[in-house]
Amino acid sequence: MMGHVVVTGAQGFVGQALVKRLLADGLNGHALSRLTLMDVRFDAPHPDNRVVQQAGSIADTAVRAQAYDMQVDAVFHLASIPGGAAEKNYPLGRSINLDATLGLLEDLRGQAKPPRFVFASTVAVYGEELPSQVNEQTLPAPALSYGAHKLMGEYLVADASRLGWVQGCSLRLPGVVARPGDGAGMMSAFMSQLFWKLAAGQPLTVPVSPDGVAWWISVGACIDNLLHAATVDPARFNPRRCYQMPVLRLTVAEVVEALAQRFGADRRALVTYQPDPFIEKLFAAYPPLATPHAETLGLAHDGTVAQLITRSME
Ligand SMILES: NC(=O)c1ccc[n+]([C@@H]2O[C@H](COP(=O)([O-])OP(=O)(O)OC[C@H]3O[C@@H](n4cnc5c(N)ncnc54)[C@H](O)[C@@H]3O)[C@@H](O)[C@H]2O)c1
Repeated sequence: MMGHVVVTGAQGFVGQALVKRLLADGLNGHALSRLTLMDVRFDAPHPDNRVVQQAGSIADTAVRAQAYDMQVDAVFHLASIPGGAAEKNYPLGRSINLDATLGLLEDLRGQAKPPRFVFASTVAVYGEELPSQVNEQTLPAPALSYGAHKLMGEYLVADASRLGWVQGCSLRLPGVVARPGDGAGMMSAFMSQLFWKLAAGQPLTVPVSPDGVAWWISVGACIDNLLHAATVDPARFNPRRCYQMPVLRLTVAEVVEALAQRFGADRRALVTYQPDPFIEKLFAAYPPLATPHAETLGLAHDGTVAQLITRSME
């Protein structure tokens, strides 16, 4: 029985999609009795009366106590300060990406039954200089505080699981598509804008070359994986309690071609390539990624580029 689920960062891109899915489908076949959403602010009341919106910072003990005021069955911890913002403000990044993760775990110690705890980690843990093939043995070497704090969060989740506070699992997310909006200055925004602009028949300049290769997952598949991590038999988790989410590895041209097949051949001409070596290195030079253990656990990528498009725009 999954009665009470908590989602941190519930107003974010992944959070909003996860909340919709949880309200529609429940968790593990069980409808939710309460869904507590945590985020810094909420603009309007939620129409579903099972939803409790807990406004405030996850770094605030009192805010966490409000969210945990009854037995918690599962926590999806998605709130974070993105990499660029965390580099500009170290204390803020540390307090949300590291300290609040520990606080969220420690505050679950008193629960009658250890809740499931799914933590959104990131491929940023691998750092800048990726080896020619990334696999589940690749040693992380974060190049930003964001990645370092997420990596520490993975260890905290594993340790809290060992201590019996939670039944935890961390998943390393790749860039998830297709985030709506202009990307708010994010250097990887082109990956999501490709989908929305070409669907709408609008021109787009991308800062990478057509044969730039990236790791892709749709928001739909990402949520399938988060839900699976919250419901699969925890006896099957590896001791690190951490998995790389499987991805499709595709060139930008392959994605554009599939979008043209979906939305019209005229779409091909809408894309102008203006490669920026810095962005190309960061977001379009990804080596092959092997994730056999994650796949054995039941985690999955989109399967095909056609499915990636469908599920990115759900
Ligand atoms: N989207 C991606 O491509 C991607 C890739 C790798 C990892 N991730 C990770 O997945 C998670 C979800 O990603 P997303 O794209 O939805 O992120 P997002 O930035 O869209 O949403 C994060 C949410 O966290 C909230 N938040 C920030 N500080 C908070 C605080 N102090 N208290 C409460 N809430 C706070 C923000 O207001 C925002 O609504 C994040 O942890 C992110 O690091 C995402």
